[in-house]
Amino acid sequence: MDKIVIEGGHPLQGEIAISGAKNAALPLICATLLSPGPHVLENVPDLRDTRTMLALLESLGATWSRDGDTLTIDTSGLNNFEASYDLVKTMRASVLVLGPLLARMNRARVSLPGGCAIGARPINFHLQGFQQLGVRHQLDQGYVDASVDGRMEGATICFDIPSVTATENILMGAVLAKGDTVIKNAAREPEIGNLVDMLNGMGAKIKGRGSDTLLIKGVTRLKPARIRVVPDRIETGTFLIAVGAIGGELTLSNCDPALLPSLYAKLGAAGVKVREEKDRLHVARREPLRAVDIKTMPFPGFPTDLQAQMMALMCFSNGLSLITETIFENRFMHVAELHRMGADIRIDGHSAIVTGTGGLRGAPVMATDLRASASLVIAGLAAEGITEISRVYHLDRGYDDLVGKLSRVGAVIHRQPA
Ligand code: EPU
Repeated sequence: MDKIVIEGGHPLQGEIAISGAKNAALPLICATLLSPGPHVLENVPDLRDTRTMLALLESLGATWSRDGDTLTIDTSGLNNFEASYDLVKTMRASVLVLGPLLARMNRARVSLPGGCAIGARPINFHLQGFQQLGVRHQLDQGYVDASVDGRMEGATICFDIPSVTATENILMGAVLAKGDTVIKNAAREPEIGNLVDMLNGMGAKIKGRGSDTLLIKGVTRLKPARIRVVPDRIETGTFLIAVGAIGGELTLSNCDPALLPSLYAKLGAAGVKVREEKDRLHVARREPLRAVDIKTMPFPGFPTDLQAQMMALMCFSNGLSLITETIFENRFMHVAELHRMGADIRIDGHSAIVTGTGGLRGAPVMATDLRASASLVIAGLAAEGITEISRVYHLDRGYDDLVGKLSRVGAVIHRQPA
């Protein structure tokens, strides 16, 4: 298996163009199932997860082509309603085909995703929501077998807690349902706004974009879409935090500064300056790093997808930092790996107490999930000596050309093929 090898201690200097967001691209690709015809998606990152999602669509009868970062997907030939275990087990977001398949084919058989490294991650909110829209389902050999007679029926759905993919799934089902659907306590992540824009562009009638209440007036048909994927706020945040750890000065282009309100406040308090300018961000650290506390929350709170990276950053401060994870029950897998680099971190339930020691030392470490891997890259960039990260296929799932982008701004990093 490939490794990433990093020689730490080289500040970052220059400009990085941010790619489209993985977690926006995945639901947009699924939404193409809602209407036959060629759909055009721009700014689509070339990731293992986007390729897996395209393989899934292909298995359902769709065809696609890529020209640079533009994808054309034709779902006219849709002829299958089963998302197989082989595909779903490698990427939980595959469950996002459930809503579109039920809306277009009145039937969907989707493998249950099972557990994952960061928590149990059930899909009960998705299934309860569809049940309220008139869908029957049963579990058959590890598959959710769901069907509805004719169109789904609009209903009022209230989530116990805001779930990103459950909001997206129900939204994609409800746009073609009979009558009105209201989603209360909807997730407000910007990637959902991107999906609302795509669906409204296809002829759907959705109000409440960006709020926790979405009102959907069902329509009978949609037309093919043309949409641009929003910039990846988690990739953006990862580079901002990297500069905090190693120092230097970076400009991030093609990003949306409005998407990370909670991160700038924390970075500012830690001594990392971020300046916003239209679709660019400038980041630099010229003062010693200060310890800050963070608590992950649904948007616009501090994103769980940046918790691991922020923890790596805090290892380089000289103070105490309390990091509380409220979204997933097992998202501290990076702690044991950071220990191997000399970090002083104690876990107490949902919190981690980081005692910043001012630095880390390079070591062989293992990536355990996507964002944990990004935290190890940040730790390696700023640590003394050499860090070797194995199991880098996790990084390939969600970061577009991470090694290339970092090496072009002064990092000493390369990928070592197995
Ligand atoms: N939950 C349930 N039942 C459900 C759905 C969710 O109990 O049916 C719980 C989850 O277990 C979790 C909480 O609700 O405790 C919120 O999870 P959510 O459903 O919002 O997560 P998700 O939709 O599965 C997306 C992102 C994740 C990101 C989370 C939180 C995609 C494809 N994935 O997951 O991204 O961490 O929202 O923001 O959008 C990543 O990119 O590395 C990643 C894990």
